[in-house]
Amino acid sequence: MRTYLVTGGAGFIGSNYIHYMLHRYNNEIRIINVDALTYAGNLENLRDIEGRENYHFVKADICDKEAITQIFEEHDIDRVVHFAAESHVDRSIQEPEIFVKTNVLGTAVLLNCAKKAWEFLDGSFQEGKRFLHVSTDEVYGSLDEDGGYFYETSPYAPHSPYSASKAAADLLVKSYIDTYHFPASITNCSNNYGPYQFPEKLIPLMINNALHGEKLPVYGDGKNIRDWLYVEDHVKALDMVQEHGRLGETYNIGGNMEKQNIEIVNIIIDTLHDMLPETDPRKKLISKDLISYIEDRKGHDRRYAIAPDKIKTEIGWEPETEFEQGIRKTIAWYFEHEEWMENLTSGEYQTYYDAMYKDKYGQF
Ligand code: NAD
Ligand code: TYD
Repeated sequence: MRTYLVTGGAGFIGSNYIHYMLHRYNNEIRIINVDALTYAGNLENLRDIEGRENYHFVKADICDKEAITQIFEEHDIDRVVHFAAESHVDRSIQEPEIFVKTNVLGTAVLLNCAKKAWEFLDGSFQEGKRFLHVSTDEVYGSLDEDGGYFYETSPYAPHSPYSASKAAADLLVKSYIDTYHFPASITNCSNNYGPYQFPEKLIPLMINNALHGEKLPVYGDGKNIRDWLYVEDHVKALDMVQEHGRLGETYNIGGNMEKQNIEIVNIIIDTLHDMLPETDPRKKLISKDLISYIEDRKGHDRRYAIAPDKIKTEIGWEPETEFEQGIRKTIAWYFEHEEWMENLTSGEYQTYYDAMYKDKYGQF
């Protein structure tokens, strides 16, 4: 039975990955989820599987060398899938240091613990061990509106403290591959959306605000472009890269789904209207009048777009979920999980939201 060490499994993509893997492989695999449970980590995301014998949760910080060493000593880990990170660009602009600590130092600790556990005295590695570093397309910087794509060969040019810290982590992984022939691969994925996403990111924030009749804060001119991928398509790609990808390689993962932010906000408003029953009083609150243009994000990248050619050709992965279908599934999930959203947005989130947005309304 293969054992997976998943870091950051209580977050958005990590929890979707764990659900996907346990559904796909059932009792053929064992998953150990290590997560520090920061504001972004939520064990509610895993409530339905927490009693399973082949799933174990360990609360630990990936920067804690002793705790991570202990996990490798107690378990014969076959696969590491490394999601744990500080992941929100706006927070990285406010508080860069924690991004360097978790994303760079945390990755270094994890790499070193895996290396120690898997390496023979002669410097070779045990057969079948693999480390997957989950990263972002933001390491490549920003594209012009009128053309070009990110390829695996594109130069790194990160702009935000978030993307700079992820780029540093990627380079550390590459250095382990080059120096030690460490058995790792890297994936760089575009923007994800879907169930369990924390409402500080564009799509769940807009859904939540619209349902409460609150303003929909669009940064700058609203024409920045992101390439959206439904999270289930991403986690499927990660499994395929672990199983069929070449070690030492980087694979870009993207949705072929470029949209301006303002288009996304309009689609959310229209879809909510379409999906809410006539009798639902919230329907009257939701209108395009809620859209409020606010001060732009500092250093705001204009466009991201992935060319997912390599993963298609080598591994046979392609995005499957059309945006219209994915957004309906996402909204349906949020309808069914209103309590989840209420719990998340009741406490600390409100302090974050007020500091981030309150004084910006009405200025633009
Ligand atoms: P998230 O913020 O929702 O989850 C991060 C998880 O990591 C949380 O559960 C948090 O508690 C945990 N964590 C944070 N610091 C930790 C630490 N020091 N030790 C242990 N656990 C810690 O993030 P996400 O959106 O699920 O992203 C997961 C990964 O995927 C990140 O590495 C991110 O860079 C990458 N990624 C995200 C996207 C996206 O659109 N969300 C796109 C491409 C790549
Ligand atoms: P986000 O979800 O934070 O992802 P990222 O910055 O990693 O791409 O933001 C997606 C886009 O939406 C980005 O261009 C910033 C913009 N945005 C807004 O216009 N308003 C908001 O309230 C948020 C959170 C994001």
